[in-house]
Amino acid sequence: MIKVLFICLGNICRSPLAAAIFTEKLLHKDYKQKICCDSCGTSDYHIGELPDERTLICAKKHSIPMYHRGRQLNRSDFKDFDLFIAMDQSNCRDIKEMAKAFNTHPKQLFLIREFQDKADFLDVPDPYYGGEEGFEKVYEILDESIEGLIKMMEKEFKL
Ligand code: 4NP
Repeated sequence: MIKVLFICLGNICRSPLAAAIFTEKLLHKDYKQKICCDSCGTSDYHIGELPDERTLICAKKHSIPMYHRGRQLNRSDFKDFDLFIAMDQSNCRDIKEMAKAFNTHPKQLFLIREFQDKADFLDVPDPYYGGEEGFEKVYEILDESIEGLIKMMEKEFKL
């Protein structure tokens, strides 16, 4: 089983939506037996919380089921997950710092937009302080990036 972890700051907007979109695409590709995923935040701000209401509205609009409670990146994640997929460069820095504090490192760490065709920017913009339209933009970026991520995995892991 290849284990993928999507990571953002709060784990209520970008990364749980990324994990839900990824899961939906895996279902359609019949990869449920080969790949699994989860999401978490680098912060402890929203532990145990449901995704942001605007994330849930956006997911529902695109018929993406979401079942997640906020959780923080922890020591065992570095042992358990094969691919770390961060939403922005600040998440990447935080992940590396937390790894260092745990005396470990992520097996493989990527920015999700590395997999987006023609990305104009490396970060998925944080939609938390904006309006609902920001969530729609995040959805589009994640959808395109995840297509690319799956293509990379198909090649890399010979699926
Ligand atoms: P996320 O968005 O990292 O995509 O889940 C955020 C959610 C909450 C906060 C920041 C970003 N916050 O500061 O509480």
